[in-house]
Amino acid sequence: MSTSKNITWHDSEVKKVERQHRNKHKSVVIWFTGLSGSGKSTVSVALEQELFKQQVQTYRLDGDNIRHGLNNNLGFSPEDRKENIRRIGEVGKLMVDAGLVTVTAFISPYREDRDAVRDLLEDDEFIEVYTKCSLDECEARDPKGLYQKARNGEIQGFTGINAPYEEPIDPEIVIDTEQNSVEESVRYIISYLKSHAYIKNK
Ligand SMILES: Nc1ncnc2c1ncn2[C@@H]1O[C@H](COP(=O)(O)OP(=O)(O)O)[C@@H](O)[C@H]1O
Ligand SMILES: [Mg+2]
Repeated sequence: MSTSKNITWHDSEVKKVERQHRNKHKSVVIWFTGLSGSGKSTVSVALEQELFKQQVQTYRLDGDNIRHGLNNNLGFSPEDRKENIRRIGEVGKLMVDAGLVTVTAFISPYREDRDAVRDLLEDDEFIEVYTKCSLDECEARDPKGLYQKARNGEIQGFTGINAPYEEPIDPEIVIDTEQNSVEESVRYIISYLKSHAYIKNK
């Protein structure tokens, strides 16, 4: 809800469908969610590269990067996590309006917060990608040493250790990063985008 008064929405004369038409693909948010270390960043980076190679206009938003800038005033309390995801959702919506295939990689542990982003967008503009990986495996990978810090009590409210992760109930896509390679996950997502006519089959 906006707290500013005296503001009026001003429509652009260049419409989303015109941008999509010129780009020769639809625009959408591909929303990765999963535990820290599950592979959201790794798979989303590889996906963005493959989309770019296939002439798709794409942009990636990543948790750590966004927390350096746009959201550098937010921490990891449930309220701040909610606000973090709300802002990303709004940015994602702008990017969809700009005609981009937007790839986001945030733990986004709360179902309600993810669903709020889904609700911001049109029905077919939000693809939830559950990046599935057991806590044991994420902890064994520990690419940033964060699980160890959380276990040592150096980080409070760490998802999976002392803060919850709510699995998606009915995500559009599930990738299992313990069973499948990065390349297999990317191929699977690309084939979904093609079979659902988001991007061209070539
Ligand atoms: N099949 C796989 N898919 C994705 N990541 C994998 C896979 N196998 C091993 N990894 C490793 O797991 C780690 C995932 O870390 P990262 O992508 O930063 O996770 P997140 O962004 O979800 O916190 C990386 O070190 C990556 O190399
Ligand atoms: Mg990451």
